[in-house]
Amino acid sequence: MERLRLCPIGDPQDGEPVAIPAGTYPPLAVYNVDGQYYVTANTCTHGNAQLTDGYQDGATIECPYHGGAFDIPSGAATTYPCQIPLKTYEVTIEDGWVTIDAPGAPES
Ligand code: FES
Repeated sequence: MERLRLCPIGDPQDGEPVAIPAGTYPPLAVYNVDGQYYVTANTCTHGNAQLTDGYQDGATIECPYHGGAFDIPSGAATTYPCQIPLKTYEVTIEDGWVTIDAPGAPES
């Protein structure tokens, strides 16, 4: 399956997620949580906020708008007013890059 390279592994720091603008996929956020990498949708499920403008505390990302929050690994909404989970993407580290499966790419 084709893979999308999102950013070099050195870019997201623990507590400082990286925003990936929309391409063939919606806006994405890349997180480093204690050396583990995760990718979620970057748009809050409560409103039109970019979560990378919010506050990462460990495995939690807090939205900058209304104080809602999500669990980064699972995408689960953990703090009101967020109730709809974030979409998450399976990450593979490839040649020093954070990559995900290309959306809609045919199985090979
Ligand atoms: Fe994120 Fe309201 S837009 S909590």
